Amino acid sequence: MPSTVLILGAAGRIGHAVAHAFADAGWTVRAQSRKPLPVGLAARPQIQAMRCDALDAKATAAAAQGADVVVNALNPPYTEWERLAMPLTDAAIAAASSTGALLMLPGSVYNFGRELPPLLTPATPERGDVPKARMRIEIEARMAAAPGLDSVVVRSGDFFGGTERGSWLDLVLTTRLKAGRFVYPGDPALIHPWAYVPDLAHAFVRVAEQRDRLQGHHRFHFAGHAVTGEQMREAVEAVAGRPLRTVGMPWGLIRLGSPLVPMWREVVRMRHLWQRPHQLDDATLRSLIGTLPHTPLKQAVAQARRDLQPAADQSAAASFSANARA
Ligand SMILES: NC(=O)c1ccc[n+]([C@@H]2O[C@H](COP(=O)([O-])OP(=O)(O)OC[C@H]3O[C@@H](n4cnc5c(N)ncnc54)[C@H](OP(=O)(O)O)[C@@H]3O)[C@@H](O)[C@H]2O)c1
Repeated sequence: MPSTVLILGAAGRIGHAVAHAFADAGWTVRAQSRKPLPVGLAARPQIQAMRCDALDAKATAAAAQGADVVVNALNPPYTEWERLAMPLTDAAIAAASSTGALLMLPGSVYNFGRELPPLLTPATPERGDVPKARMRIEIEARMAAAPGLDSVVVRSGDFFGGTERGSWLDLVLTTRLKAGRFVYPGDPALIHPWAYVPDLAHAFVRVAEQRDRLQGHHRFHFAGHAVTGEQMREAVEAVAGRPLRTVGMPWGLIRLGSPLVPMWREVVRMRHLWQRPHQLDDATLRSLIGTLPHTPLKQAVAQARRDLQPAADQSAAASFSANARA
């Protein structure tokens, strides 16, 4: 059954992992990016580099020709969603529509707004009460409304793991390990959902394999690891091999600086995700593909740390990993 997939944003966090996962499953992979592909992807014979801007409609449509599946793994910089989120969405819809491919999107929990309930199902009402919630709702609405397009949203919590930097785990939680600190942005007693990127990438392949059953628009939830900050600290402690003290983020300072620092303004606008417990219900996804890929948390955190280490640190990382398995 393996076939051809075009991945838009293949050099990004989920795009990179999805490209590897489809190639591992025997698919022919076309990997779109503006910058050169990461070495590990470029070296694989079943992965074809497509160097173009996703907003170049002609080039993107050409890259899509004959593809059975298009994955929209594009993501504008966090401060540029207003300007770029819809053009990138429209580019992905046009590419998939031009060739009759199934369009797949990694969805987020932003759609549920500031008052999100503790259990999120694909039927949970959405609330566009913050700008990024409105934009995510509009992205999915455009996919659902595109004439003749088959499309799928696989929604998850915060990414961690994979070979690309930029997750809360590497940018915040583990930044003060040398000082014996675990930095957590919310109440550590509340449940927060995480998606280990290699597991999520594998789930994308399993959903794509069901392409014949996916007519129209579908939404699935990937539960990943729904854990408290305390459970995440324990996983990081196992990897670090030492006890850690949880400290908060300086939200007062971030709020104060947010009129001047656009990134801080955007982070403050989404702070509710760290103040309200929530997790995703994956029953619908399980009914489609069966048991979901799920690397145990300590192992996933250890691998995530190892994948971001420069080669020279690999031996230290291997001992982290041994600790985590213990
Ligand atoms: N990160 C998370 O925790 C998370 C959680 C749930 C869902 N998601 C969703 O998953 C999707 C992918 O997120 P990600 O974190 O994997 O993405 P990412 O790594 O931040 O970015 C993916 C790629 O988008 C491309 N891109 C950025 N700006 C562009 C522009 N102006 N024009 C064309 N291409 C541009 C870049 O590729 P080039 O520079 O090579 O062109 C980049 O490598 C998004 O829809 C995101 O909302 C993310």
